[in-house]
Amino acid sequence: MEEKIKVMISEDDVDARIKELGDQISKDYAGKQVHLVCILKGSVFFTCELAKRITVPVSMDFMSVSSYGDGTKSSGVVRIAKDLDETLEGKDVLVIEDIIDSGRTLSYLLEVLQKRNPASMRLCTLLDKPDRRTHEVHVDYVGFEIPDEFVVGYGLDYAQKYRNLPYIGVVEGVE
Ligand code: IMP
Ligand code: MG
Repeated sequence: MEEKIKVMISEDDVDARIKELGDQISKDYAGKQVHLVCILKGSVFFTCELAKRITVPVSMDFMSVSSYGDGTKSSGVVRIAKDLDETLEGKDVLVIEDIIDSGRTLSYLLEVLQKRNPASMRLCTLLDKPDRRTHEVHVDYVGFEIPDEFVVGYGLDYAQKYRNLPYIGVVEGVE
């Protein structure tokens, strides 16, 4: 079945904002190498576009996590389905997320990653739904704050579809 998608943030607006974030990150990490940690799968499009806009040296690694629980009631424990290939020891780590919703995944994950002794660790998310937060997380870079609506595109899926949309959209009729 084909759902209807309404544009929330256009391709041009997303691209322009990613360029701004890239400029900001390049300034903040001047003289350093930034190690991007991409949280699969949703963050992959954002990570690549952002990396292209960063002018300091960049290295990248990938990690895949899933929350235990039935989706609505999670234990707060995150299972690492695919761990990073490299150590974080001494690196200036920038964790890249697609969206922060309850904050449950990230608050747990950041704790786990912090124990691996990075030189520094910051968090960058394309989208933030602050109204939904149940677990506090400090976010250093936010692309867009959005209202509590289910969005797709730019890596975000609905039943594994729509990750490839070049804009952020809302699936009509989905709670
Ligand atoms: P949380 O912050 O631990 O609640 O979970 C964030 C994760 O839930 C994100 O990384 C997405 O995978 C997923 N998610 C949350 N809101 C949306 C949405 O609006 N569209 C698609 N996925 C979402
Ligand atoms: Mg995700």
